[in-house]
Amino acid sequence: MTEIRIDLRPAAQSAPAAHAMEPASRGHVIEPAEPAAISIDRLSLWYGHKRALTGVSLDIPVNRVTALIGPSGCGKSTLLRSINRMNDLIPGVRIEGTVAYHGINIYGKDIDPVEVRRRIGMVFQKPNPFPKSIYDNVAFGARVNGYRGNLDDLVESSLRRAALWDEVKNDLKKSGLALSGGQQQRLCIARALANDPDVILMDEPCSALDPIATLKIEDLMREIVKDYTIIIVTHNMQQAARVSDYTAFMLTDETTTGQLIEYGRTQELFTNPGDRRTEDYISGRFG
Ligand SMILES: Nc1ncnc2c1ncn2[C@@H]1O[C@H](COP(=O)(O)OP(=O)(O)O)[C@@H](O)[C@H]1O
Ligand SMILES: [Mg+2]
Repeated sequence: MTEIRIDLRPAAQSAPAAHAMEPASRGHVIEPAEPAAISIDRLSLWYGHKRALTGVSLDIPVNRVTALIGPSGCGKSTLLRSINRMNDLIPGVRIEGTVAYHGINIYGKDIDPVEVRRRIGMVFQKPNPFPKSIYDNVAFGARVNGYRGNLDDLVESSLRRAALWDEVKNDLKKSGLALSGGQQQRLCIARALANDPDVILMDEPCSALDPIATLKIEDLMREIVKDYTIIIVTHNMQQAARVSDYTAFMLTDETTTGQLIEYGRTQELFTNPGDRRTEDYISGRFG
């Protein structure tokens, strides 16, 4: 649904200095035979002196759900945040390697990180509606950006896409904070969709929700993925298996921090993992 313009507006910020890249390590990492929305190439990241990612390379296909799984602390959230430059907001972060969005390095010079984050939206673990009405939550980004279209239509279509419209259409003035947890998370999804992104990053979006609210979000993801590319971090392997088309398994071990161990079609990775560590993790032997 989204038209891809390939110019991301220039920013005043300077680009990070170039560094020598990690060698590509492929192992059990497939290259999907589908167009990539996001291509990550030999990405490494440090928080100050502490390394969090080591030479991660993977291509994330358009209009698919890709799940990032792995034990706590293995770098899933760090990798996710590096896909829309959210890590830029953390002092002392340094990266090497590239993240390309439809072929454009989002860390290149002349790239505006605000525009990157508009196209590559994010939904967080804990639903975080603004202390504003349901309507104003969804309209927020459009107002900030001086949206010229019909705001009522935008709010309605975004709430419909987020499968929340029928539940709130008579209460649009009610506070977003008055909704249930699951509704709040769908409101946050509506707020993200109203900015017209084409990639949506979700960091454990269901971990604060009950099973019914979780299934609603999963159904919603399967529905909207026709129009968006979704990348979800989850510690719930059943969820990864239910909702995703591709799965990436990450691990930190004694020698290497935040590495990609295996990446493939979800069905294949869960039924016939190529790496023993993937097998051990998905069969519940650790993590
Ligand atoms: N803002 C931060 N500052 C310093 N270290 C961080 C920060 N965020 C995460 N880390 C560290 O980076 C590593 C990876 O964390 P994270 O990406 O949150 O893992 P996951 O999402 O897989 O649990 C961990 O060792 C964590 O402590
Ligand atoms: Mg995390």
